Parts: sequence; structure tokens; C-alpha cells
Amino acid sequence: MGIIIKTEEQINLIRESCRLLAIVHRELGELIRPGISTREIDIKGDQLIRKLGGVPNFLHYQGYPASICVSVNDEVVHGIPSKRRILQEGDIVSLDAGMIYKGYHSDQARTHAVGQISPEAQKLIDVTRESFFAGIKMARAGNHLFDISNAIAAYVKPFGYGIVRDLVGHGVGTKLHEDPQIPNYQQKRRGPKLRPGMTLAVEPMINMGRGDVEWLEDNWTVVTQDGSLSAHYENTILITEGEPEILTV
Ligand code: MF3
Ligand code: CO
Repeated sequence: MGIIIKTEEQINLIRESCRLLAIVHRELGELIRPGISTREIDIKGDQLIRKLGGVPNFLHYQGYPASICVSVNDEVVHGIPSKRRILQEGDIVSLDAGMIYKGYHSDQARTHAVGQISPEAQKLIDVTRESFFAGIKMARAGNHLFDISNAIAAYVKPFGYGIVRDLVGHGVGTKLHEDPQIPNYQQKRRGPKLRPGMTLAVEPMINMGRGDVEWLEDNWTVVTQDGSLSAHYENTILITEGEPEILTV
């Protein structure tokens, strides 16, 4: 299939999709508090996406049953919202949401604190976020894709956290998942050359313990094998001639 270089017109539509998605994320972030169910977050997110003129792209994606992925504590990604899952003080919760706007996808994830959390949990969230920024420093035309992967891995390494290897970032466009796959761990090869007009979802998933994950019986929820906490930070970015543009802002 190959990596699709977007035209100016396509970029403008992806940019708009991403800008609207960032609004959804900001509003959902403000809902996070002890006592809310993960289903309430999903309902609100679905409503917001539609109100802004978009369609939730996760809903029914390969059979996924909700619009927002809500993953609590040791859940890494793809947690299924439930009215029985109530957020508790001290939890961390990852929200992954995406939308389609005028045919173009956007994808973004954030991990939030529920009330007061431990300094250790906060540090995991902060390091995961900072690893994204370390990665995209390398996201420049002329560099290679795996320069991003290697920079994320190098940033995380001194903290001793586990990098999730079973899930990766990806291209974004008229489909949610386009080429290339973007690993968050050290690569031996350089990968494809980065070119202006590539739109990429860069999304480190970092565990406090080991990087190994497993799937729950629901066939969606990815959890850490050792039960440790996990954080996620994702933006859709655009490769330009210079600095990358973070589109989901
Ligand atoms: N946001 C996820 C990703 O980054 C995709 C979620 S698909 C769903 O690749 F079906 F689980 F929603
Ligand atoms: Co993604």
C-alpha cells in the first residue's frame, strides 16, 4: 500500500478533523472525576463528536462496540466503556478518541489522573507524554521513520519503564490505520524516509513494569501482563519541510 503523501487540500481536511478532535479531548478531560462511569465518558464523547459534525471512527471498527476507548490503570488501550466501571480517586484513565470529518480521520489519546494520584503514577504519565515530544523532535523531512521510534525508546530507557511492543502508531488519512506502522521501541533499520505531507499518529504506550501485554476475554481490552499501570499519549502530526505540525491541538 505504501505511505500516502497528502495534498494541501487533504491536509486541510485532516487538520480540521484533528482540530475538532482536540476539542472533544479537552471537554472529556474536564469530565474526569471520581464517580463517573467509563460509559458516561463514551456517551459524552460520541455526542460531542457528532455535534462537531464528525463521526466516531472507532465505533464498529472491526466490531469495537463504543466510540471512545477508556482504559483504566493496568489497561493499556481499547478498554470497553461500561456503566459498571466507576472511576475511583487515585486511578489513571486513558482516553483514546478519533473521528472522521469530511472523509478524513484523526486520532488522539491522553492519560488523565482521577482526583489525587500517586507521584509514581503522575511520573509515568509525564514520561509517556515527554517521550512523544522526544520522538517528534526527529519527525522531520529527510530523517527516517525509525529515528522517531529510537528517540522515544531512548527517552524512556533511563526510567526503567516497559515499552509496549505489540501495538504501534500508524499513518492517518482516509483510513484510521494507514502505512507506515510506527513502533515505539528501538529499531535496527532506519525505516522509510520522512517526507512533507505524511500524516502520522505517534502514540507511545508505556508501562510502569514490563512492556508485555495480554488481551482480556472480551478480545479488545489490552492489559499489562504484570498488572502494572500503563499510560498512553497520542497525537496526529504532519511532516513538513521543518518542524512537525501537531494537528490534534
Ligand atoms: N485509536 C486506536 C489506534 O490508535 C484505534 C482504536 S480502534 C478501536 O490505533 F476499535 F479500538 F476503537
Ligand atoms: Co492511533
